[in-house]
Amino acid sequence: MNCIDNINGETKIYGVMGYPIAHSFSPVIHNTLANLLKYDMIYIPFKVEKNGLESAIKGAYNLNIKGINITIPHKQEVIKHIYKIDKFAKQIGAVNTLKYDKKGYKGFNTDFYGIKSCFDLREISLKNKEVVLIGAGGASKAVAIMLAANEVKKIWIINRTLKNADSIAQNVKKYYNVDIEIIGYNEIYKIQRADICIQTTSIGMSPNIQNTPIDDNNFYDKIDIAVDIIFNPWKTKFLEKAEQSGCKIINGFDMLYFQGLKSFEIWWDINIPDNLKFQAQGILENYYKDKLL
Ligand code: ATR
Repeated sequence: MNCIDNINGETKIYGVMGYPIAHSFSPVIHNTLANLLKYDMIYIPFKVEKNGLESAIKGAYNLNIKGINITIPHKQEVIKHIYKIDKFAKQIGAVNTLKYDKKGYKGFNTDFYGIKSCFDLREISLKNKEVVLIGAGGASKAVAIMLAANEVKKIWIINRTLKNADSIAQNVKKYYNVDIEIIGYNEIYKIQRADICIQTTSIGMSPNIQNTPIDDNNFYDKIDIAVDIIFNPWKTKFLEKAEQSGCKIINGFDMLYFQGLKSFEIWWDINIPDNLKFQAQGILENYYKDKLL
């Protein structure tokens, strides 16, 4: 994974802006893809605090930085500083990818594609499916728009703070005509059956690996596919319980990898061939799992 030996005046620079940024996995994803594809580029993490965003973006543009990922806490604020925005990023109200364009950066939301890829890869169609969405934070916003855009039949949003779930539902309904029901954790008995459950809260993330948003085993018997956006631990308690009930389970690593891959494809205007896509995924999975031990 050493790409700095070949840096020269032609090397294209990419990066990620956020705060904190020290633990970002994005540099490893992009530099691995660059090495496999033999592209002359380098991807660097940039620590940018809240009040430094505007000047950082202007500076990046003037430095001819071709693409930038945007992460916490800037995904919403960044919209003010770009000149064009992709349709789904606009609907979600958050941007995580900037692409250099003639007059400024264009913004995209590749979290949308990251979560969609989890289903595409397994040839799971979302059309007419009934989906339970746990959580109503930033990730849930992107997932809800993705589900509605792919014509699911119904979305239940379960959240501790109902008004946060309501604001996600209101936002989705501005763009899509989809049935959404909001429920509290004490009302999950209302769900008789669902095809898919997507867990988007931080509950169960290391070091709190004994926690799960839903403890009741009966719930897991009612769903077929369980997705957790957490990837540390590799298998959360939520996924363990789902697996014990016979569900197909998907952890958050696919979403992380495929949102990165989509940014890369947008920047270079390419479709990475499947063999390289999965080769890089294997390398990154092993690299990441080693770090977990
Ligand atoms: P973001 O995804 O924007 O970073 P977050 O603050 O991490 O947001 O919260 C994401 C989700 O995790 C929210 O649904 C949050 O519930 P609230 O809307 O009620 O705050 C949920 N969440 C985080 N910790 C939780 C906890 N201990 N119990 C229940 N829900 C929790």
